[in-house]
Amino acid sequence: MATTERTDGRPAGQVLAWARELVDPALHTAVDTLPSPVRRIAGYHFGWWDELGRPLQGAGGGKALRPALALLAAEAAGGTADAALPAAVAVELVHNFSLLHDDVMDGDTTRRHRPTAWSVFGANTAILTGDALLALAADVLAVPGNPDPQGTQRMLAATVQDLVAGQLADLVMEERHDITVRECLGMAEGKTASLLGCSCALGAAFTGAAPDRVAALRGFGARLGLAFQIADDLLGIWGDPAVTGKPVHSDLRNRKKTLPVVAALCSGTAAGQELAALYRRADPPTGAELAHTMTLIERSGARAWCEERAGALLEDALGALSSAGPGGRAAGELAALARLAVRRDR
Ligand code: IPE
Ligand code: IPE
Ligand code: MG
Ligand code: MG
Repeated sequence: MATTERTDGRPAGQVLAWARELVDPALHTAVDTLPSPVRRIAGYHFGWWDELGRPLQGAGGGKALRPALALLAAEAAGGTADAALPAAVAVELVHNFSLLHDDVMDGDTTRRHRPTAWSVFGANTAILTGDALLALAADVLAVPGNPDPQGTQRMLAATVQDLVAGQLADLVMEERHDITVRECLGMAEGKTASLLGCSCALGAAFTGAAPDRVAALRGFGARLGLAFQIADDLLGIWGDPAVTGKPVHSDLRNRKKTLPVVAALCSGTAAGQELAALYRRADPPTGAELAHTMTLIERSGARAWCEERAGALLEDALGALSSAGPGGRAAGELAALARLAVRRDR
């Protein structure tokens, strides 16, 4: 009975490990169907093989947050994680398509503690590998157990359009100096929140859940996704690269209009004005200027504001989760996962 169901569950770290364990064999099977040169680059990117195609021990392919959301959303909607495995694989493929392209666009040479695929194999190769993963994601949804093949494929396609629009906005904003907080949040909704929302929605849809249930779980994932991107933006400035596995200060060097920067620019403080002058300069920032930029963002109050905003969005997401259903173990685990995703250090 729902009223006597346990509302606790495994800690979030264990849930992520469980999702990784479930999704990896299916991911391997899917990637094995790719043409061999592309397959090799994909395997490198996922951390399975080194640049010569030799197997790597214990190297991970990321946190598996999106697969975990899909699998738990399926359970929260009354189904099984196994039934939603294709959904989990599909969202992880879309995520990794976006990372392969993102590292080219951002010019980043490190991800998951390793040289990025484009920096090893060239930008064109990485872009084509991303394309292959995207096509594979659509394919993976076309399985006999999918209760709504057309609906789920449309869901994923719409999410990719949101993601592309968000990524484009992210690039265009590098050149603009008049970005509002609202615009910045809209960009993050597109590039990140949409796929986290879709992960929950697809997982639930794979169990044949009713549309209002699917929509409620999507709402949870999307709110969480926005908080998750704010956490990522903060880690991009104050994170430890030895822990995140990503370069620190790349966003500041690229003059990205991440939320901490935009909040500082819009703060009406002297620190914000000084930051605006630094951001308008044509020359690339020196090491000392980057350190000063961090101080200005902090002094403007933007760091604390972003932390509060991420916390408020997390609460909002947890509220959406409560209204999505009867709770239970999967809902408890989704809540724990959400907290970890926002309060993470990697
Ligand atoms: C990184 O996502 C890209 C963003 C949307 C911020 P993750 O932090 O989930 O990346 P991995 O898969 O764990 O490496
Ligand atoms: C996150 O991009 C969104 C996508 C990759 C689609 P970012 O550029 O903010 O993420 P990281 O910090 O490189 O992972
Ligand atoms: Mg990036
Ligand atoms: Mg980017």
